[in-house]
Amino acid sequence: MKNILITGGAGFIGSHVVRLFVKQFPNDSIYNLDALTYAGNLANLSDIENSNNYNFLHADIQDLEKLREIFKEKNITHVIHLAAESHVDRSITDPLAFVKTNVLGTTNLLQAAKEHWEDNFSDKLFYHVSTDEVYGSLGDTGFFYEDTAYDPRSPYSASKASSDHFVRAFHHTYGMPIVISNCSNNYGPNHFPEKLIPLMINNIIQNKPLPVYGEGLNVRDWLYVIDHARAIECIFSKGKDGETYNIGGFNEWTNIDLVHLLCDTMDKKLGRFKGESRKLITYVKDRAGHDLRYAIDATKLKNELGWEPSLQFEEGLGKTIDWFLANEEWLASVTSGAYMNYYNEMYNS
Ligand code: NAD
Ligand code: TYD
Repeated sequence: MKNILITGGAGFIGSHVVRLFVKQFPNDSIYNLDALTYAGNLANLSDIENSNNYNFLHADIQDLEKLREIFKEKNITHVIHLAAESHVDRSITDPLAFVKTNVLGTTNLLQAAKEHWEDNFSDKLFYHVSTDEVYGSLGDTGFFYEDTAYDPRSPYSASKASSDHFVRAFHHTYGMPIVISNCSNNYGPNHFPEKLIPLMINNIIQNKPLPVYGEGLNVRDWLYVIDHARAIECIFSKGKDGETYNIGGFNEWTNIDLVHLLCDTMDKKLGRFKGESRKLITYVKDRAGHDLRYAIDATKLKNELGWEPSLQFEEGLGKTIDWFLANEEWLASVTSGAYMNYYNEMYNS
């Protein structure tokens, strides 16, 4: 029996990973460790919170003593580490918060695991969930591969790159069993509306301006969050010790084309006339150091472990919009209070 610690399980991707593991592994214990920052929301897991194999632990990965207690008390055997500060724009205004959680927090977690496992690593695993942004920014062509040199350019991606290096260092120095996956941009239910897709959906619902940075020509490679969770389960179960796997759906969109698609799809769903939502598009000042293009080559994951995305983008986007329209209470609760202060500072200054 495994005692699996999933960090950041109250967040966007983490909640989908927790749900999948709770359902798929009824004989293992799933511990969701989360500090419940602005991005963490236990309502994301209300459907599984009473499952016998699910436990929530309120803790901050910056607190090494607390992590030591948890590893000992729960006899943690496996870690899937998602807890992070995850928004590039916030990393530009407050880089130190990203160093504290993403770099120090990850190293704390590695240290607590190493101490508890006492360098006896049989049947143990530290799975680190990372991002394609560590590879930097592409020009008009090419892809990120697993051996692409790291070239992070924002405080967020620099902090994630640093955490990846520490995970590999614990593998090479102490022999800790690890896997790392680097995924492209996710979208789907429970996505916090500071990120492009949920922010645009929320603003379209509310008839608010749709702030497109620069000329809207930056390219992102989008993957449905449940396909990311499936990939994590696949790598957790079948990945090889010490390996890195890129995760992506070969699905590139310029921001402006994506916003147009969102507007047109939502016009239909909301019964608005064609073109109505596009009128909300407002070009705003570009993000500092804005990476031009990300694109993942996920061939290794397909060829070696047999994972492929299950959904086409239009279908995934339709499901995502439907989820937001059916969960306006969730949206209202996460966009009250602190979110409005963030939004006003970010977009109205
Ligand atoms: P998120 O911001 O939605 O959730 C992060 C979660 O971590 C929240 O529940 C938050 O409360 C928790 N957390 C933050 N600081 C913490 C701390 N100090 N201690 C304990 N918990 C803490 O993030 P997400 O979009 O779900 O991303 C999850 C992971 O996946 C991150 O590591 C991110 O770098 C990575 N990732 C995200 C994407 C994406 O498109 N969102 C793509 C690739 C990789
Ligand atoms: P985001 O969702 O923040 O993800 P990331 O920067 O990690 O890729 O942004 C996706 C793209 O959308 C990125 O090129 C920045 C752009 N963007 C906007 O144009 N307007 C916005 O309000 C936001 C949040 C993002």
